[in-house]
Amino acid sequence: MLSNSYFHIAGSTEDAAAQCATLMVERIRAAIDERGQATVALSGGSTPAKLFPLLAEAEVDWKRVHIFFADERMVPPTDDASNFRLAQTLFFALPPVPAANIHRIRGEEDPEEAAAAYEQELVEVFGLDEEEDEIPAFDLIHLGMGDDAHIASLFPGEPAIDDLDGLAAALYVEKLGAWRVTLLPAVLQAARCTVFLVAGAGKAAPLDKVLVEPYNPRQYPAQLVRHNLEVHWFLDQSAKPSDEGMSHGRA
Ligand code: 6PG
Repeated sequence: MLSNSYFHIAGSTEDAAAQCATLMVERIRAAIDERGQATVALSGGSTPAKLFPLLAEAEVDWKRVHIFFADERMVPPTDDASNFRLAQTLFFALPPVPAANIHRIRGEEDPEEAAAAYEQELVEVFGLDEEEDEIPAFDLIHLGMGDDAHIASLFPGEPAIDDLDGLAAALYVEKLGAWRVTLLPAVLQAARCTVFLVAGAGKAAPLDKVLVEPYNPRQYPAQLVRHNLEVHWFLDQSAKPSDEGMSHGRA
C-alpha cells in the first residue's frame, strides 16, 4: 500500500485537465492563505497544453505565486520545444503573473551553468540555508509521466535518480540525445502536494508497473514520489491503470 495517493479518472483528457486545474488552484489559494505565497513547479510535454489555459483563467492573486519548472530542454525560451515557452504562451501571457515571480531554467545557456544558476535561484527564493543542505518544499509540483515512467527529466537508468541531496542538475539523456536540466529527487519528494496529469493508452501499462512493482525508481522514476505527502493522479480513461494498480496506490 502506498501512502496518500488519490486517483481521479475522467472521461476525457479535457476533463482530467479541468479536475487537475481545480485542485491546483485550490492548493495555490490555500498556500497563499496559510503562508502568504505559493510556490509551484510546472512540467512540459503535451498534456500541459490542456491544463495551462485553465490555470490562466483562475482567480488567484498571482503576484503571490512563484512559478518554477520541473525541468527544461536546452533550447532558447523562444523555441517551440521550450517548456518555459509553452507556459509563457498558454499561462503567464494571460494572468498578471509578475515577471519577477517566474523562475525559468535558462535553456539557452551551457547546461551545467543553467543548472547551477537554477539551484541558486531556488536557494534565494526559498531562503535556504546552503550550509545545512536545505531542500525547498514546493507547495505544488505538477508532473507528467512518460511511457517509460520518466518524470521531469529523470529517465530510467539515470544515476542522478539516486542523488538525494542536490536540488537541480544538468543531465545528458541518452534516449533523446540531448541535455536537459531537471529538479532532483529530493526536491520532487519534498513537495507538499504533487499532481500528475497523464493521458493516453500508452500510459496505462507503465503506470501499473509504477504502482505495483517494488520500489526501484532507477527503473520506474515515477516511483520516486510514491511516499510524498499527497499525490494526485489525474488520468483520462485510457490511461487508467488496473484495479490492482489502484488498490496498491490508493491512500
Ligand atoms: C518534459 C517533461 C516530461 C513530461 C513527460 C510527459 O519536459 O518533457 O517535463 O517529464 O512531463 O514526458 O509528457 P506528456 O505530457 O506529453 O505526457
